[in-house]
Amino acid sequence: MKRRKVVVAAGFCLSFFLGTLFNLLSVPAFEHQQLGKQQQQQQQLEASLEPTTAAATSGHALLRSLRQQIRARLREALRYGPFPERGARPPLERRRLMDLQRAQEEEREEREHGSAPRLGCSSVDAASDVRFVGSGYTKAVYRAALNGSFAVALKSVDFGGHDMEECVRKYGSAGDCYRLASVKLVKEMALMERLQHPNILKLYGYCYQDSNDIKDTVTAITELGSPLEMIQLLQTPWEERFRICLSLMRLLHYLTHSPLGSLTLLDFRPRQFVLVDGELKVTDLDDASVEETPCSSSSDCLLEFPARNFTLQCSNGHCQGINEKRNLYNAYRFFFTYLLPHSAPTALRPLLDKIVNSTGELLWGTDETLAHLEKALDIYRSGQYLMNDTQMHKTEYKRVVDASIPGENYRCWPSYQHDGCMLSVYDVREAIGVCESHVQCRAFVLGNQSTWTGHQLVLFKTGSTSMTSAKGKLTYVKLGS
Ligand SMILES: Nc1ncnc2c1ncn2[C@@H]1O[C@H](COP(=O)(O)OP(=O)(O)O)[C@@H](O)[C@H]1O
Ligand SMILES: [Mg+2]
Repeated sequence: MKRRKVVVAAGFCLSFFLGTLFNLLSVPAFEHQQLGKQQQQQQQLEASLEPTTAAATSGHALLRSLRQQIRARLREALRYGPFPERGARPPLERRRLMDLQRAQEEEREEREHGSAPRLGCSSVDAASDVRFVGSGYTKAVYRAALNGSFAVALKSVDFGGHDMEECVRKYGSAGDCYRLASVKLVKEMALMERLQHPNILKLYGYCYQDSNDIKDTVTAITELGSPLEMIQLLQTPWEERFRICLSLMRLLHYLTHSPLGSLTLLDFRPRQFVLVDGELKVTDLDDASVEETPCSSSSDCLLEFPARNFTLQCSNGHCQGINEKRNLYNAYRFFFTYLLPHSAPTALRPLLDKIVNSTGELLWGTDETLAHLEKALDIYRSGQYLMNDTQMHKTEYKRVVDASIPGENYRCWPSYQHDGCMLSVYDVREAIGVCESHVQCRAFVLGNQSTWTGHQLVLFKTGSTSMTSAKGKLTYVKLGS
C-alpha cells in the first residue's frame, strides 16, 4: 500500500515537471546537469518575454523595466526547482486533452488502489460550492468541493489585489503584471512540491486556463485549511495552543534542514499560516528564501525587528544561521509569547518559560528548541506534570457506569464546549482535582472523546438530578452534596 502511494506520488512529480522537461529536451544542447537545465530554461523564458514590436516610447521603457522584474523574479524562483511554466507547455487544447486523460487515469488509479488522485483543470472545472476564504497582497483563495464532498483550496492571483492594482497603475499592462504576480504563485507551487512536511500545505495539483482576457492563468489546488484567528486562539485551551507552537517548531526545524538549504520565511505574520484539524501549516511560501545574507564582517549581519536587533557572526562570507534565527525570533514574537505559557499546567511553566526566554534571546537553534518542546509534550502526554500534585481530596465520589447527565451545565474557561464546562484531563484523579476547584461542580461525566495528546474530555456538572443511562459513559457524583 505504502509502495503504491510512493509510486503515485512519483507519478505526479513526473507529470508536474513533464512540461518543463518536454521543453528542455527539445533544446539541442540539452545537458544532464541541473544547472545547465535551469540556465537553458531561463534563456527560453527570457526569450518569450521580449517585446514583439520595437517602437521606442516611454511606455516601452516602463514595460522593459517590468519585464526585467519578471526575469529577476523568475531567476529567483528557478532556484527552487523546475516548475510548470507558460513557455514549457503544449498548446492549450492538447493540454486539456492531457488533463482529461490524466483525470481518467487518476480515477482508474483511485478505483484500483484507493489512493488520492492528482488534480488538474478537470477538477477546477467541476468544482462546486466555491466560496471565498481569504486574500493577501497577491493571491485570492477560494474553498471548493470536488465530487460534491472533498474540499480543497483554489489559489490564484487576485486581479483586484494590491499587487495587481499597483502594478497595472504603474505599468498599464495587465498581461505583464499578471505574469509578474503569477511567478510568486508558481514559486510557491514549486516549493510545496519540493518541501514535503506535515506542516506545509500539500499541493494536490494545478491548472492553466485562460480567464479575464489573460492567457494561461494559473490556479493551484491545495489542501484546505482555516485562516488563523489570533484573537480566537487566545481563547482556546492551552493544549490546542501548545499544539500550534509545537507544529510551528517542527516546521521550522524542517526548514533549517530542508533539501534546499536553510530556508527562511520573510513574511511570518500569522495570516501566512492556516489550521488543518488543529495543526498549523504554512500556506504562503512566495516570500520564502534560502539566501543567506553575504557579509565581510559581523557589522553586516544585523537582524532587525521592530523591538529588538541582533548582530550575528559573519563566517565564510555569510551571516551564520541568519535564516534559522529570523524564523525563530518570529516564532517567538508572533506565536510563543502569546500562546505558550498562558494557563499552562503549573508543573510545565518553568520549562515553557525557559523556551520562551531562550527563543526571545536567540540562545538556542531550532534543534534545541524543538527538543525542549517535545520534552514538554512528553511530560504532558504521560501525566508526569501531575506527579507532584500530592494534594489529597477529602470528598468522595460515587462512580456510576453507563450513565450521563444531559443537563446541569455551567460555563468555565477555557472550555472545549461553549455552553458547558468541558476540559481535558489525564485521569480521573485530575478530573476530581478540577471539580474540587470549581464551586459549582457536583459531578462530572467522562465520554469516549479524547484530545490530540490522548487526554480525555470531561464534562463538569452542577448536579446529577437529570442522570440517565448512557452506554459507554462514566459519571462521578460528589457524595454528600
Ligand atoms: N489552503 C488554504 N486554506 C484556507 N485559507 C487559506 C489557504 N491558503 C491561504 N488561505 C487564506 O488566504 C489568505 C491569502 O493567501 P496567501 O497565500 O497568504 O496570499 P498572499 O501571498 O496574497 O498573502 C491567507 O492569509 C489565508 O488566510
Ligand atoms: Mg499571505
